[in-house]
Amino acid sequence: MLNVALPKGRLGEKVYAMFAKAGFECPEALRESRKLIFENKEAGVRYFWVKPSDVSVYVERGAADIGVAGKDIIDEYEPDVYEILDLNTGKCRMAVAAKKGFRDNPDTTLRVATKFSNIAKSYYSSIGRDIDIIHLNGSIELAPVLGMSDVIVDIVETGTTLKENGLEVIESIMPISARVIVNKASFEFKKGDIMKVLGSLKTQVEEKLAKEMGEQK
Ligand code: PRP
Repeated sequence: MLNVALPKGRLGEKVYAMFAKAGFECPEALRESRKLIFENKEAGVRYFWVKPSDVSVYVERGAADIGVAGKDIIDEYEPDVYEILDLNTGKCRMAVAAKKGFRDNPDTTLRVATKFSNIAKSYYSSIGRDIDIIHLNGSIELAPVLGMSDVIVDIVETGTTLKENGLEVIESIMPISARVIVNKASFEFKKGDIMKVLGSLKTQVEEKLAKEMGEQK
């Protein structure tokens, strides 16, 4: 039985479709319900829907053999797992944003509100800037609006949340996309199933990329 941790939400549904195409179907998993675990014995697969930021915990601890997590989560928590494949979906970026017209004063400590404290710390340490981290769990955009922080480090996808709160990107830190992660022991003991999934996912990613390139021409 292959245990798969999927991030709840739109990204998870997209990713489920890719796993199903790889031969690990379990249509029940998409049914609207409060159930968190779905199994298809014939296909030899069990899916769990988990909070996106928790996928790496399930995979690291072996409750899931394989899972899909954003690069943001992987860099923030640095789980002890194999990061195997970029699914080239769930794309967004990690960025620094501030109120329109913000000017950094290098003589003061920069107050940074974020859910991604480790990413923010390592980014500012790489540019040698003194900061004070204000760790929040959501609605990060509020902090500079209320004057609680100077900037935020957060995910920007469409930019709508920033725009609607009078903020703008002042620096891009890194691009983000969904990655397949694998438990280290499972990679040895369930190699057959894992390679079957990975092979198909890789082909699907390559086909999608080729199609996108074709459309751009
Ligand atoms: C994320 C992120 C931004 C928003 C960016 O929040 O923290 O707030 O999405 O998306 P956009 O550029 O398309 O507007 P999420 O929805 O995960 O909720 P959160 O407030 O709990 O962080």
